[in-house]
Amino acid sequence: MKQITYNKKTFFEKYSQMTRSIKGLEGAGEWKTLEKMLPNFKGKRVLDLGCGFGWHCQYTIEHGAVSVVGIDISEKMLAVAKQKTSKEIKYICESIENAKFPKNSFDVVISSLAFHYLKSFNDIVKNVSMWLVKNGEFVFSVEHPVFTAYGTQDWYYDSDGKILHFPVDNYFYEGKREAIFLGEKVQKYHRTLTTYINSLLQAGFEITGVTEPQPDKTKLETVKGMKDELRRPMMLIVSATKKIKTKK
Ligand SMILES: C[S@@+](CC[C@H](N)C(=O)[O-])C[C@H]1O[C@@H](n2cnc3c(N)ncnc32)[C@H](O)[C@@H]1O
Repeated sequence: MKQITYNKKTFFEKYSQMTRSIKGLEGAGEWKTLEKMLPNFKGKRVLDLGCGFGWHCQYTIEHGAVSVVGIDISEKMLAVAKQKTSKEIKYICESIENAKFPKNSFDVVISSLAFHYLKSFNDIVKNVSMWLVKNGEFVFSVEHPVFTAYGTQDWYYDSDGKILHFPVDNYFYEGKREAIFLGEKVQKYHRTLTTYINSLLQAGFEITGVTEPQPDKTKLETVKGMKDELRRPMMLIVSATKKIKTKK
């Protein structure tokens, strides 16, 4: 089932209140790490898969992209994106799975925290490879396989409500998981690190960077819960370059 959670009124309203939704990129904990892995956008044709409020689209246009397409399955997310970001950005309401573009039509494809909602990563990587020109760049973040493995995405607590540990289980059983996020049931997909990496290699990508973002060290003592973010990885960011030529 394709992800419609972001179009549900209550979930959307709560998501809109998150720091990352209000402050944009600066409000996203992983942004500084992701930014370092992004390529030069000058003169580039960019595609953002699962663009949400369009913050990353806006960044690429401000950094010299000649064209930017953002696609997202949620009309509500895109309505805000259209309102808050540059009119030069083209937004398409479509699922990533059903998106269709001509071969070689982008120089850079980015995606932030959307692929763990997709059943098949392999299929999307094949499409991204087809859409990118040779030497095109692909940079994406996902929820980390350690974070998605068990499914609930919550700590284990003792009887006093103190954190004991984070559950990791069923790691090699890839597939559907149900988590509670912002008080709503959200369907996600778990896959192993091997699947993420090998799908890229098999589709003709050279991996140029892998990062597991850590919390901002200056906030460890001042922001509640920040120290616990050093106990398990929550996100995985990968950058890759397409090394093969898409046949015309
Ligand atoms: C966590 S939000 C991230 C939004 C944005 N990329 C960001 O980082 O600020 C996930 C986004 O992925 C979108 N999404 C989830 N599944 C999708 C799918 N199958 N096709 C297109 N978009 C999808 C959601 O609607 C939502 O906007």
